[in-house]
Amino acid sequence: MVIVLFGPPGAGKGTQTAKLVEELKIPGFSTGDMFRAAIAAGTPVGKQVKAVIDAGDLVSDDLVNKLVFERLDQPDCANGVILDGYPRTVAQAKALDEWLKNHHLKLDKVIELAVDDEQLIERRAGRLYAPNSKKVYHKTFNPPKKAGFCDESGEPLIQREDDNPEVVRHRLDVYNNQTAPVIGYYESQNRLAHIDGMEGIDTVFGSILQVLGR
Ligand code: AP5
Ligand code: MG
Repeated sequence: MVIVLFGPPGAGKGTQTAKLVEELKIPGFSTGDMFRAAIAAGTPVGKQVKAVIDAGDLVSDDLVNKLVFERLDQPDCANGVILDGYPRTVAQAKALDEWLKNHHLKLDKVIELAVDDEQLIERRAGRLYAPNSKKVYHKTFNPPKKAGFCDESGEPLIQREDDNPEVVRHRLDVYNNQTAPVIGYYESQNRLAHIDGMEGIDTVFGSILQVLGR
């Protein structure tokens, strides 16, 4: 089962991916998390993308595709995978289709989480992030058990550099201009399921499971 979780920055893709990984027992990965890990480790890829990510722009299609296809080739993806934040351009969507076709696989569902701009800004303003475990919290909507620390790893929680209000606004523009056209691409092929992402975390999760027929 190959599933894409799609939606604007702060819609809840990472939050729902973590819940789906547990439910479906298949891996899930966020391209944003992979880049942040590369930046933290100081790898050549990390050095290449740091300025782009900090500014809230998109990393080049070639670089993202290479990273994703290398990850998809890993044996743990053999029974399926959840993609969080990829594809994010029509060129990436087409490249993914081609890769899947060459591997005799298909994309089962593209799930779009729809959330309005005001709520997106509130979600990102309160987001807390654990860089090692990659767990995502919210000061009000999904607080950790011990304020400021990850439930799973115990590490201190931080705010993401690209969650400052100016970058957040730019990321939204980038989403509307470069990423939203992907919706039309999948819609025209009847592969898109649109979900109201404004509800609470568990309600949204229930809607996703329904779309997946579970
Ligand atoms: P990435 O890390 O993927 O950022 P994003 O897509 O902008 O999305 P976010 O991670 O900000 O939000 P999310 O939807 O995961 O929401 P979350 O679950 O955290 O990408 C970062 C950067 O990497 C990009 O800007 C780009 O530069 C680069 N990049 C990545 N992929 C790329 C690609 N394919 N091509 C090119 N460049 C790429 O939730 C947000 C907050 O809300 C949390 O605090 C959470 O607790 C809370 N919350 C979640 N759900 C709910 C709910 N239902 N109710 C209330 N609160 C909720
Ligand atoms: Mg995320």
